[in-house]
Parts: sequence; C-alpha cells; structure tokens
Amino acid sequence: MKSAETLSISTLGAFGCEIEGIDLALPLGPQNRAAIGDALDRHLVVLARGQKLSDPQLLAFSRNFGELDPPGPNPYGEPFNKDFPEINVISNVIENGRPIGGLGAGEAAWHADMTYTAIPPKCAVLHALEIPADGGGNTYFADMFAAYEGLPGDLKRDIAGKSAVHDASRNSAGLLRKGYSDVRDVRETVGVTHPLVRHDAKTGARALYLGRRHNSYIKGLSIAESEALLDRLWAHATAPRFTLCHRWRAGDVLMWNNLAVLHRRDPFDANARRIMHRTQIKGVETIA
Ligand code: SIN
Repeated sequence: MKSAETLSISTLGAFGCEIEGIDLALPLGPQNRAAIGDALDRHLVVLARGQKLSDPQLLAFSRNFGELDPPGPNPYGEPFNKDFPEINVISNVIENGRPIGGLGAGEAAWHADMTYTAIPPKCAVLHALEIPADGGGNTYFADMFAAYEGLPGDLKRDIAGKSAVHDASRNSAGLLRKGYSDVRDVRETVGVTHPLVRHDAKTGARALYLGRRHNSYIKGLSIAESEALLDRLWAHATAPRFTLCHRWRAGDVLMWNNLAVLHRRDPFDANARRIMHRTQIKGVETIA
C-alpha cells in the first residue's frame, strides 16, 4: 500500500511548515515525494505529527530524498544503532551503564550538522520516539537566508569574500569526538574551510553559512578580529526574529534543510527519558 496522495501543507511562521494527511511509514507516491521535497526547499523545516516509524521505515522514508550520510564520529567510537548504523540515536538514556545515544540531556549549542566536512549533509530527519512528559528539550531553528537578508550593511561588507574553518573536534554537546584533541589556537582548528556566505545551488539566493561558533576562525584575520566579527555575526544570525521553536511530541518527524538553517536544543530533566532516531541525507554540492 502507498500513502494516499492527499498531503496538505500549512506554514508554522516566517518559515517552517507542517504536513498533514500522510502516513510516513508507508511508501511515498511520486506526488507526495515531490510535495515534501518542495516544502523543504520553500519552508526549510517540515514537521509531520503522529507518525510511528520503525527503523527500516525511517530509512525508507529518508531515502526518498537522496543517499544517506552516516552519522559523524561520536565520543564512544562506535555506532549507537548497531543494526542500522545509518541511524543516529539522540538520547540521554543509559542502559547497562552505557548511553544508548548522543547529546545527553544538556543544551546543544547552535550548529548545522557535519559542516566540518567538504560536502555537508543537505537534510536531517529526526523522529521522536520518547519525549519527557514535563517538556524541555525544545529544538530551535534559525533561517540563514533571512539572517543574510537582514544583515546590516557594514556587517555584510565585512564578511564579503571571507571564509571560516568549521571545527570537527567537538560535537554539539561540547564533547570531544574520539580521535580528536583539544584546539588550543583557533588558527589550527581541524575541519574544512567554507565561505561565510553560501549561494543556493537552485535559486542563487544567499544565506549565511556559519556551522558552529566553537573554534571557528575567519581566515586571514588576527584572532582578535576574527573573534569580534564572529561574535557580531552569531549574535545577529541567532536573533529571535530569525528563529522558530519546536516543542516536541512523541511521534513527530521533523526534517530540516541543513544547508540553510542552524539548530539548537534546550536542556531537559536528566531523569526523564528522551529518545530520537535520526537520519541525514548526503549533500551533493560544495559550499560556494
Ligand atoms: C540535534 O540533532 O542537534 C539534536 C536535536 C534534538 O535533540 O532535538
């Protein structure tokens, strides 16, 4: 059976949308596949509530949008989901003395995923399996097209033609990944250098491309100049007027355009259980 081609789309705010009338556990028909891909291009974040996907169903749904990109290295050096290593597990739950997933219960700082690689993933899909009853753990998104458009003229001029290195050493919970050492001088940060301004491959529209703040460094500047410019840029890019807050319910599937938004997560009660399964879709373009 295929999911009926009856998808409806409503916007969540300045960006982001919710799709309804679809069961993502069933194979997508061509119309729904195109509609979801188009919604992701236009709205950058796509939410579907009330879904129940097994791991193979999450993989099958994700593969509608491209080849899967396996998770980056985690601090424990082996996949969390051994049966389906393309799936990352985001969780604070400890079983038999070991975390079943990454990021714990603390805040995850603003970032985009795996921007320390030459061709970062273009999209992430996050499925909420268990969510704390008392809330917390909201996830926020910031629209980097709008942030670029809203730059004051002097800041736009100051970043024109500049590139920054994106740190590979720590994950978004701030933990050192296995095999990396601490960065003592940001000019020696290990990771890939990308332009601060990205041009969308389909439309040519410009977006800020910042990755993560920690250990970032703008090439060609002194450390002090780079830190000052990055601080101004990050404060601008993550201002509330460019952001969207998602309050999770179990059964949510949330997809985002990883090239065009940053995301961060609030902390939550470490004694509550939160389990999410996550895939990401390989990018096909260098950042330019
Ligand atoms: C992440 O992918 O950075 C985690 C988001 C979340 O836990 O809500």
